[in-house]
Amino acid sequence: MEAIVVQELRKRYGEVRALNGVSFSVREGEVFGLLGPNGAGKSTTVRVLVTLTRPDSGTASVAGHDVRKEPTAVRRTIGYVPQDSGVDGFGTGRENLMLQGRIQGMSGRDLRDRTNELLELVGIADAADRVVRGYSGGMRRRLDIALGLVHRPRVLFLDEPTTGLDPEARVEMWDEVTRLAQAESLTILLTTHYLEEADRLANRLAIVSQGTIVVEGTPGELKALLQGDAVHVELANGAVDQAKDVLAGVGARPEQVIDGRTVVARVENGGRALPGIISALEGAGIVVESVSVSRPSLDDVYLHYTGRDFQSEDRGE
Ligand SMILES: Nc1ncnc2c1ncn2[C@@H]1O[C@H](COP(=O)(O)OP(=O)(O)OP(=O)(O)O)[C@@H](O)[C@H]1O
Ligand SMILES: [Mg+2]
Repeated sequence: MEAIVVQELRKRYGEVRALNGVSFSVREGEVFGLLGPNGAGKSTTVRVLVTLTRPDSGTASVAGHDVRKEPTAVRRTIGYVPQDSGVDGFGTGRENLMLQGRIQGMSGRDLRDRTNELLELVGIADAADRVVRGYSGGMRRRLDIALGLVHRPRVLFLDEPTTGLDPEARVEMWDEVTRLAQAESLTILLTTHYLEEADRLANRLAIVSQGTIVVEGTPGELKALLQGDAVHVELANGAVDQAKDVLAGVGARPEQVIDGRTVVARVENGGRALPGIISALEGAGIVVESVSVSRPSLDDVYLHYTGRDFQSEDRGE
C-alpha cells in the first residue's frame, strides 16, 4: 500500500521553476527522505502534499486522498512540522501542545493524556512546564514534532527536522525519529540537506535537484549503483584532459571534473589502484596536488547524477 503518490508535479514562481516534474511514491510505514541542496524544491513538494500550495499541474495523493480534490481529508490524516518552528515561546511546552490539540478539535481527558504521552515520547517531559523561550534548539525541535503528532496522524511531514541543531543533538534526533516511526506506526516523509541524515534515517530516499528527482532508492542501492571506489585527483596545473587519459589508461574510469581541477575516477578497489595511478600520472609529467580514495557516499551519487558537487551546491557556490 502506498501512503504517498506524487506524479509529475510542476510549480512555477514567476521565472523560477520550483518543481519541474516531480514523481515518487512512499510506502506505508516507511521513512522516506527527500535529499537536496538549498532551493531544490523540497519544501515546495511538502507544501503541495500538506495542501498549503497548489501545483500548476500534476497529481498527488496522501493516504489515498487527492491533495487537490480532498484537502480536508488529507489534512485530517497528516501531521506537518514546517521548516520554521511555529511554537509560542511565551507558553510552556505543555500549553503549546494543549492549544494545538484544541485547534485540532480535541479536549478533556483525551487531550491531557495525549499531551503527557507525547511529552514522554519526544523526551521533554521534564521541561513540560517551562516556557519554551528557555528551551534549547533540540528541545524546541522535539516540541515541534510533538505538535505535529497531537491528533494522531498516519503520515508525518518533517521539513528539515535537524537544521540548526549541533551534531550531537542531530544524532539524538535521528534516534528519536526512528523510535517515533515505530511507536506511532507512522509513515514519515522528511526533507534534508544532510547526506548523512538521509543515509542514517531514511529507508528509501529520492535525491532532488532543480525541481526534479534525479535518482531514487535505498541508501545502499544508490551507493551500489556506482560500482567501486571514487578516486579524487586534484591537479596542480589543471591538466584535466591529459589526466583523464592517463587514468583511463590504468583502468580508472574518469567520471567527473570538479572546479576544473579535480578529476573523479572510479575503480574497483581504490587502495590497490592508488600506487599505479600516482606513478602513471607522475610518469606523464602531471603535477598532482592531492589524491584521495573514498567508498561510495551519497555525495558521490549526487555528483554522478547531476555532475555537480552536493556540498558546494548546498552552500550556494
Ligand atoms: N513563495 C515563493 N515565492 C517565490 N519563490 C519561491 C517561493 N517558494 C519557493 N520559491 C522558490 O522555489 C525554489 C524551490 O524552493 P524550496 O523552498 O522548495 O527549496 P528547498 O529545497 O526547500 O530549499 P531549502 O533547502 O533552502 O529549504 C527556490 O528557487 C525558491 O526560491
Ligand atoms: Mg526547504
